[in-house]
Amino acid sequence: MRIGVYPGSFDPLTNGHLDILERSTKLFDRVIVAVIHNPQKQALFTINERVDLIKEVTNHNPKVEVDYFSGLLVDFACRHEAQAVIRGLRAVSDFDYEMQMALLNSKLCPEVETIFIISSPQYIFLSSTKIKEVAMLGGCIHGLVPQHVESMLLQKIQSTEKNACNK
Ligand code: PNS
Repeated sequence: MRIGVYPGSFDPLTNGHLDILERSTKLFDRVIVAVIHNPQKQALFTINERVDLIKEVTNHNPKVEVDYFSGLLVDFACRHEAQAVIRGLRAVSDFDYEMQMALLNSKLCPEVETIFIISSPQYIFLSSTKIKEVAMLGGCIHGLVPQHVESMLLQKIQSTEKNACNK
């Protein structure tokens, strides 16, 4: 059985992530989306919210599983008997960081390969950070994230603003 791990922050999942994920399920029997839980890094969505959002939008695909991890990615991959880590590449600017991570992971655990899937052209400009920025500034994010993510993001921004006003 070929198992791939697709790791990331997914704060939140975008259509670019979804594209890489769907395409990777054609290469693997199972793909485990591994959401990083890093309490040191401030995220808009909690770890449970991010996992639930991804579960909700991928529940039509039986090859996809969603889990979270903390600690080393290669330890998570080994625990799940995965042969590969999957990463999306949007542009040359992603490359340095991705190569460093792939080489470091390969040093830590040579049995786990990293494979890169080139982003589809229509998603090259997408990132979770930019999606949050546009949404927070009142811009339209329709078509850039799954419908469920869009609703949850707008809800989250509204409740954050309400909380800020009540302080
Ligand atoms: O979506 P992101 O934020 O680019 O994902 C980065 C992620 C989660 C894949 C990376 O930070 C990671 O693997 N962190 C786990 C810690 C680790 O294994 N570090 C050593 C190799 S870089």
